[in-house]
Amino acid sequence: MKQTLAALSLAAVTAASTFASGLAQAAEPIVIKFSHVVAENTPKGRMANHFKELVAERLGDRVVVEVYPNSQLFGDDKVLEAMQLGDVQLAAPALSKFSRYTDQLALFDLPFLFEDLDAVDRFQQSEAGQALLGSMEKRGLIGLGYLHNGMKQLSASQPLRVPDDAKGLKFRIMASEVLEAQFHALDAAPLKKPFSEVFTLLQTKAIDGQENTWSNIYSKKFFEVQPYITESNHGLLDYMVVSSTEFWNGLPEDVRTELKAALEESLAYGNQIAREKAEEDRKKIAESGRSEIIVLSPEQRAQWVQVMKPVWKEFEEEIGAELIDAAYAANQP
Ligand code: SIN
Repeated sequence: MKQTLAALSLAAVTAASTFASGLAQAAEPIVIKFSHVVAENTPKGRMANHFKELVAERLGDRVVVEVYPNSQLFGDDKVLEAMQLGDVQLAAPALSKFSRYTDQLALFDLPFLFEDLDAVDRFQQSEAGQALLGSMEKRGLIGLGYLHNGMKQLSASQPLRVPDDAKGLKFRIMASEVLEAQFHALDAAPLKKPFSEVFTLLQTKAIDGQENTWSNIYSKKFFEVQPYITESNHGLLDYMVVSSTEFWNGLPEDVRTELKAALEESLAYGNQIAREKAEEDRKKIAESGRSEIIVLSPEQRAQWVQVMKPVWKEFEEEIGAELIDAAYAANQP
């Protein structure tokens, strides 16, 4: 009898542990949908794919990253709302596209604020730059890191050498009041439109021009429908990788730590690609013969600075004078 009872309890323990391990095996992996609007062979596209690979290597079947490029899942006008509803877990909109969530990130849109990407790096890695990653937490979004695309250039249907050349022209802009003010300063007409519509707007001549990086102008073929590109380097197009605070803080701690490490490596990788692609894609555009690249003389550039820079004053109160000073100071190595 004793033996029978022992055999029965052993069988029960075995059955329970088989059931438990079956449950563990059946546990579904955490799915991270990463939605973005650019092509895959861009700094953001390559960074997102690299992150997906690192997560697959390191977290095996506990986490699966699905990347949706080219506005396949959401455009930047919808992605942050979708994130708050839990329909997407990671995105990296341009810093210009967070105005509904914070005033401070408008800083990065101020024309002629940063001289180059080294200055941008110095600011983003500073205490003030890192603090901005937390600027939307009250609104349910957490910044996980910055990613470069690069400096913006002006493309148009006619040559833009001095600010007067832009007068009366229609330019597509990202959803940013600073960018709107920048084009008003030129007496031009800015139109806020999603990235996915820019090529068609240019092709059909519904607009005359736009501002973007070499990588976006090349990968989205804007250069094929814009005969002139002015190498103005007048502004910055960078990104913030964001998640919802609810999703991110709800992850198991070990998973979050691994994801953060994989993301940091992917951002360093993407930032390197950004520097390389700016040069490579500019060269490809120049060699295509489809678009003339206008290089400004120092005197011509000074005119653009003179017309656009007063925009800073308009937004000083909203952004904060101290923050603007800190960012500008990063131009000094
Ligand atoms: C992006 O680079 O993510 C899009 C930029 C734009 O909307 O112009």
